Amino acid sequence: AASRITPAELSARKGGEPIVCLTAYTYPIARLLDPHVDLQLVGDSVAMVLHGHPTTLGATMDMMIAHGQAVMRGSSRACVVVDMPVGSYEDTVENAVACAQRIVRETGCHAVKLEGGVAIAAQIAAIVVAGIPVMGHIGLLPQSVEKEGGYKIKGRSEANAELLYTDAKAVEAAGAFSVVIEGTVEPVAAEITRRIAIPTIGIGASAQCDGQILVIDDAIGLTVDRVPKFVKEYALLRDTVSKAAEDYARDVRSRAFPGPEHLFSLSKDKA
Ligand code: KIV
Ligand code: NA
Repeated sequence: AASRITPAELSARKGGEPIVCLTAYTYPIARLLDPHVDLQLVGDSVAMVLHGHPTTLGATMDMMIAHGQAVMRGSSRACVVVDMPVGSYEDTVENAVACAQRIVRETGCHAVKLEGGVAIAAQIAAIVVAGIPVMGHIGLLPQSVEKEGGYKIKGRSEANAELLYTDAKAVEAAGAFSVVIEGTVEPVAAEITRRIAIPTIGIGASAQCDGQILVIDDAIGLTVDRVPKFVKEYALLRDTVSKAAEDYARDVRSRAFPGPEHLFSLSKDKA
């Protein structure tokens, strides 16, 4: 098997060929994405996308570890990053390191991701010192949606843009190998990308970022709730799944399925 793409290799691609990232939560999707992407993120968006929670606040350590294990079983080439769920890193540096270590020990993933800049720089630094690569995440922070009273696009005022530059610098200084910039106005995301020496991975940010990420279910048109503006749907699996269920139901009701080719006779044949 070809060797694994490492966080250090991705870091070295700053300013070069854009870094291709998607989320993945399951074994089959990890298998299908692996040849095409540089990085698979087991995002805490799994709580919403696969489990139907209203926000990412529904994610737990056990949930992230179960999905991290599934994605690791399906991937052999991409760098696999697992999100630290809400409550696992904000309060103390010690708990952050312990939870990061548990995620890596139980999944074998290559890095963890934490939301926040200045506020969690000490946690990032301590996890990096413990030998675990960290991906940062700044701009719109879904784990803060309740505190913020909704999903608010960042960088619209000069003052807010300055806060984002400070957050980006803090994440870089703490030793993160890359940083996601989410839900941030284009010129500010582009300017952050120029100001820091680690790759920026945009989502609802800028084509000037050093890479891009999307939630896999959004990218393949499987999202059944609202699809955000920043998403491009590369397939429409919603329609494919609905049509398959409709056709199957018709065949069962009419006894057209199973057909002779699906049945076992008394003579020996293969399952
Ligand atoms: O949880 C997630 O899917 C994420 C990405 C969208 C960056 O954090
Ligand atoms: Na996330």
